[in-house]
Amino acid sequence: MAKLWGGRFQKSTDKKVDDFNSSIRFDKRMYKQDIRGSIAHATMLGKTGIIPKSDADKIVEGLYGILSDIENGKVEFLIDAEDIHMNIEKLLTDRIGEAGKRLHTGRSRNDQVALDLRMYLLDETNTLRLMLLHLLDVLLSLAKEHTKTIMPGYTHLQKAQPVTFALHLMAYFEMFRRDLSRLSDWRKRCDLMPLGAGALAGTTYLLDRGFVAEQLGFSGITRNSLDSVSDRDFAIELAGVISLIMVHLSRFSEELILWSSHEFSFVEMDDAFSTGSSIMPQKKNPDVAELIRGKTGRVIGDLSGLMVMMKGLPLAYNKDMQEDKEQIFDALDTVMLCLPVFCDMLATMTVKKDNMLRGSKGGFTNATDAADYLVKKGMPFRQAHEVIGNLVFYAIKENKALDELTLDEFKNFCDMFDEDIYTAISMQTCVNERKVPGGPAEDAVNAEIAEAEAFLGSVSEN
Ligand code: ARG
Repeated sequence: MAKLWGGRFQKSTDKKVDDFNSSIRFDKRMYKQDIRGSIAHATMLGKTGIIPKSDADKIVEGLYGILSDIENGKVEFLIDAEDIHMNIEKLLTDRIGEAGKRLHTGRSRNDQVALDLRMYLLDETNTLRLMLLHLLDVLLSLAKEHTKTIMPGYTHLQKAQPVTFALHLMAYFEMFRRDLSRLSDWRKRCDLMPLGAGALAGTTYLLDRGFVAEQLGFSGITRNSLDSVSDRDFAIELAGVISLIMVHLSRFSEELILWSSHEFSFVEMDDAFSTGSSIMPQKKNPDVAELIRGKTGRVIGDLSGLMVMMKGLPLAYNKDMQEDKEQIFDALDTVMLCLPVFCDMLATMTVKKDNMLRGSKGGFTNATDAADYLVKKGMPFRQAHEVIGNLVFYAIKENKALDELTLDEFKNFCDMFDEDIYTAISMQTCVNERKVPGGPAEDAVNAEIAEAEAFLGSVSEN
C-alpha cells in the first residue's frame, strides 16, 4: 500500500517495520475522538477560507459516513496505514477523493494524536467518575448500617482501641473522595485543545484555534506549540490518580482478605463473589479482593512505565511517545474493571458483628480508657499510663481482661479506682466517649455521615 507520506521514499517499508511501527491495534479505540477532531478542524478550515467551504462540507459528510461504518462493523483497519489517524484519512480520500486530501492542511499527526488522547481520556473518565461516586454511595449506605457495630481498631496490626465499622468505612469514604477531587483537578489541565501546534512549530495558516476548542467542548487552548506536542503530563497525572485509587482499593482488599480468614472472621463474602478450590472441598477464597490487590501492581507499573518512557525525551515529539497509549489504556481499563466488582462485593458481604465485638475485647483495647479514668480523677496522664501498664502486666499473668479484674485487684494498684471503673472501660463507653469531631462515637460518625451525604448530593448534580 502506498504511504500517505511516501513521496520522499524510493523503497516500500519492510513488512516487519510496518508491523513494528503500527499502533492501529491499540489506537483504533480513539476512532470517535479522531473523527470528531477532524470534523472540527475541517469545519474551521472551511469557515476561515483556508480550504474551500464546499470541500470542508464534503470532508465532514465523509467523516460522518466513516464513523457510522466503523460503528456498524463495516470498516477493517489496515496495519499498513499505521495508526488510527492515517487509517481514517486514507478511508476518507478513498471515498471522497481530492477534497479529502485537504483535511490535513495546517495539522500534523503530532498535534492530532495529542488531541485525540486528551479527548479520549476526558471522555472515559466521565465513566470513571460515576464509578467512584457509586463506590462512595455504597460506602455511605454501609456506614449508616454500622454506626453501632464495634470492632477493634489496629496500629501495627496489633489491637489498639475499639472503633466502629462505620468509622472504618468512612475512612475509605475520605480516601475515595480525595480521588474524586484529584480527578476533577486533573481534568482542568487535560481540558486544553492542542491543535494548531502542528508538528512542533505551529503553522503558517492562521487557524482559528479557539473555534476548534469550542466545537470540541474544550475550555481553552494549549499555549506553547512545542509543549503542546511533547507533553504527556496529562497521561502520567491520570495514571497517578488511577494508581492512588487502586492503592486505596488494594488496602481495603487486603483488609477484606484478612477479615475473611478463619482467624479474624469479621466478614464473609457472598458466594457469588468467592471461588472454591479444585482440590480442597472446604475452601472459599476471596479471589476478587486478591485480584484487585494484584492488579494494583500492574497499574503502578503503567505509571512507572509512562514516567520512564518520558524522562529522557528531548522536545518535541518522539516516536517513543506512541508507547503512552497501551499503558494509560491499561490503567484505565483496569480501574474501571475493578471498581464495579469491588462495589458489588462490598454491598453483598455479610458483616459478622458479634465477632467484631468479641475481637474488640481481648488485647486490652480499653487500657487507654482505664488511664483516662484515673486522669479524670486527677492523676497526671504519664503517671496513669504507668499504673495501667503495671495493671496490664498483672492481668496478662492472671490471664484476665481488665474488666475481669476484681475491684480489690484494681485497688491494689491505685486506690482511686471505684465501682464505676467497669462502665468506664466497657467497649461501648470506650467508643461513645470518643465524641471529638472525626471520632468513633455514634454522634460524631453520624455528623460525618450527614456531611458526606450532603457532599454526595452536591457533586452528583454537576
Ligand atoms: N501513532 C503515533 C502515536 O501514537 C501518532 C503520531 C505520529 N507522528 C509521527 N510523526 N510519527 O504517537
